[in-house]
Amino acid sequence: MNNVHLIDHPLVQHKLTLMRRKDASTNTFRRLLNELSALMAYEVTRDMPTHEVEIETPLETMKSKMIDGKKLVFVSILRAGNGILEGMLNVVPGARVGHVGLYRDPKTLVAVEYYFKMPHDMNDRDVIVVDPMLATGNSAVAAVDRLKELGPKSIKFVCLLTCPEGIAALQKAHPDVPIYTAAIDRQLNDHGYILPGLGDAGDRIFGTK
Ligand code: URA
Repeated sequence: MNNVHLIDHPLVQHKLTLMRRKDASTNTFRRLLNELSALMAYEVTRDMPTHEVEIETPLETMKSKMIDGKKLVFVSILRAGNGILEGMLNVVPGARVGHVGLYRDPKTLVAVEYYFKMPHDMNDRDVIVVDPMLATGNSAVAAVDRLKELGPKSIKFVCLLTCPEGIAALQKAHPDVPIYTAAIDRQLNDHGYILPGLGDAGDRIFGTK
């Protein structure tokens, strides 16, 4: 699939399998998501530009590479996105953070915005949008629509799981946004859940069910 990056590293796949199991506790689920998100951060930041800085080692001066973490913004789609955000910030602690609050209308499954807070100068920044589940694609499309109004330099989308319907919806609306995922599952059910999936990611991260 074009512009879809399947992160099939054995560590990622192993942790995802443990997370999918219905008997994984909230504690286990959250810890695994944290670890897995850090691993995904390696993949999604692989092409980040670096610049050379002069440093002193204990022996001599040298030029060495650094990324400019402050130009990067992680945008979490509330609330489940925060589960990925934490793990990614462990790897890129200098990144800025934005939040988009969207809830799914349970009848229409349409995304309704209730919160939107971004750092300044978004037109100078690379954005990585995070949400564990790319299901109907409605929230992802709505979030990217809003972000594009601010004209960021680039936008990538990172999820844990998706399905053909979610990929199609996001790519139809935003073919320029690459999707990074650890798995592409079989299908959506009538309630907008991914099958076989892992259930409601928000409830599993926060222990609310
Ligand atoms: N959101 C979830 O939390 N789980 C799904 O399967 C789909 C959307």
